[in-house]
Amino acid sequence: MIDILARFFIDRYKNTEDPNVQSKYISLSGILGLFLNILLFISKLAVGSLTNSIALISDSFNNLSDSLTSVVAVLGSAASRKPADSEHPHGHGRIEYIASLIVGILIMFMGVQLLSEGVNELRNPTETNMSIAFIGVLILSNLVKVYMYMYNKNLAVRFNSPLNQGVAMDSLNDTIATTGILIGGLISYFTDFKLDGIMGIIIALLVFKTGLEFALSTTSTLLGEQISKETEDGIVKEIMSGKYVKGYHDLYFHDYGRGNVTAHVHIEVPTDISVGEMHGVIDSIEKNVKRKYNILLVTHMDPSYELADIEESKETKVIDMGDVENTEEIIEEAADLIRAGDLVVVPTETVYGLAGDGLNPEAIRKIFEAKERDSKNPLILHIANKKDMENLAVDIPKLAYKLADKFWPGPLTIVLKKSDIVPDAVTAGTDTVAIRMPDNEIILKLIEKSERPLACPSANLSGRPSPTTVVDVYSDMKGKVKLILGQGSTRLGLESTIVDLTQKPTILRLGYYDIEEIRDIIPEISYSEDSSSTYKNAVEKPHYKTRADIIVYKDDLPEQVSRINEDIKKYQKQGLKVGVLSSNEDRKLFEPDEILSYGSKNDKDEIARVLFAKLRDLDRLGVDLILVQGVDEKGIGKTIMSRFIKAADGNIVSK
Ligand code: TXA
Ligand code: MG
Repeated sequence: MIDILARFFIDRYKNTEDPNVQSKYISLSGILGLFLNILLFISKLAVGSLTNSIALISDSFNNLSDSLTSVVAVLGSAASRKPADSEHPHGHGRIEYIASLIVGILIMFMGVQLLSEGVNELRNPTETNMSIAFIGVLILSNLVKVYMYMYNKNLAVRFNSPLNQGVAMDSLNDTIATTGILIGGLISYFTDFKLDGIMGIIIALLVFKTGLEFALSTTSTLLGEQISKETEDGIVKEIMSGKYVKGYHDLYFHDYGRGNVTAHVHIEVPTDISVGEMHGVIDSIEKNVKRKYNILLVTHMDPSYELADIEESKETKVIDMGDVENTEEIIEEAADLIRAGDLVVVPTETVYGLAGDGLNPEAIRKIFEAKERDSKNPLILHIANKKDMENLAVDIPKLAYKLADKFWPGPLTIVLKKSDIVPDAVTAGTDTVAIRMPDNEIILKLIEKSERPLACPSANLSGRPSPTTVVDVYSDMKGKVKLILGQGSTRLGLESTIVDLTQKPTILRLGYYDIEEIRDIIPEISYSEDSSSTYKNAVEKPHYKTRADIIVYKDDLPEQVSRINEDIKKYQKQGLKVGVLSSNEDRKLFEPDEILSYGSKNDKDEIARVLFAKLRDLDRLGVDLILVQGVDEKGIGKTIMSRFIKAADGNIVSK
């Protein structure tokens, strides 16, 4: 019958998926219930008074309470259709739940009333006059209630409506109660037992119970329930299928009623994927969830240091220094390790460093072993005060002080004549020592607390790109050090500039500071590409080797973009998986197997910051070949290109 009525009263009645149409169905069922209950109320009250049955009169009020239920249902579901406004940005869907709560309380109230009447009747039993009308109205009532149970149950299941579920439950109880009255009446009529009062009390208790359950069921929705397991599982699957997504936590739902559900979640993402890249992934997760589940998902990104892996390694503890309160204590713990001759990975402003006691040959040996570094390649000693340079070096020229005053703490390393306290292992047997005062709280405090200079090369395996993220440190140093102090991505991303003052001033390695900045202090300083190999005796020059081969396309190449595109095709034809590292501006022009961008051409500092991490990322994506779009060599661009060119090991495409 509901479906027949729907045809007349609901437009688009077939669209039962639409929350609006659903709520109209619920309203309609409420109106029908209202009519049926008033009908029962009047007929039972009349017959109950005539036959002097307190149970039947109670039952009539039971029906009155039900019609009240229906009124609230109709008003509640109509109000819940009201769209969101500025004061109720989540819509009015929860009015339906509030209405249900009120209904529950009303029913309980009715139960208490009926209970006192039943107790009265039990104390002073009165005679009930059995009649055809008595039996007739009870049978009619049962038929109506069974019917109401059926259509409300149907709607409850179809539209997942708590209101209809409540009404269905109530109708079922009514049927049981009415049947009880009927049986009680018959027993009283044929025997001497006066069951009217007892039946009245039982009905009263039933009514109260229904009300209580109804009220409780809606309060949990009102307080905010968890969503169904299937929906939750589906959404989790959607989240985890996102590219790069490493995990999630704290997924919560907020149900504002009538299909207005929002959810929030924390998604764990790698620290070394650019924000732009990751945003695209997150955006499509959110859109899919909206489309498939009609749930508005809001996402918070959490950097992931591959904690699952990290916890697996018992030897290596990783602490996110941004995440802890007791940094002093932790640095103290790290200093203890250093003094005991162990190694600790620390952040610096340039790249992560692998630190050990710079005056302890055993610690130095461990550094070379952990990095698998050629013992002929010397280490930089890191100090926390400019004056400490005087303990480590002799015959210090004035220029050294000038450089220190201008650039320390900061990404500049000065090579001086070594003092006797510096072990030969640090300087690889030469009589010079490289010294720098870094500009990062954590390493500075560690140096101070350990009370000695720290030998601290970049924390990568020898020949690999320097690590600028915790994930990159971890993939090279897992199991090789006891402690990694993490601090997200390092601030500058390129290693220090190295200036040699033991001979005619020379730049040995370009770094964060470009030639011009050093020339401001030492105008006559020289730099040649060839001297960029800082350790002359080495068997193999250091380079930033990825698993994939790298080709760099210099910026002075007029047809840089078209050459890269030709080569993508050429190498793909050879069956290779080709990756491209390009600028933001040009990334749309390339269609390789994988593409990452290093940021805008106009933001060289950003390129410096991410370049090593991007090379490692492309490696992780499993490409065979990385084609790098080179940048112009102005300022820090020269250092950036020097790193790309070393990484490419001579594979350069230029004019
Ligand atoms: O920014 C940096 O300098 C980073 C952070 C961790 O401080 N450290 C770093 O260290 O890049 P490492 O070991 O990866 O590179 C140091 C370079 C090597 O190329 C080494 O040959 C050179 O400095 N070097 C060290 N001592 C030297 C010396 N006495 N004479 C000439 N070159 C030296
Ligand atoms: Mg290095």
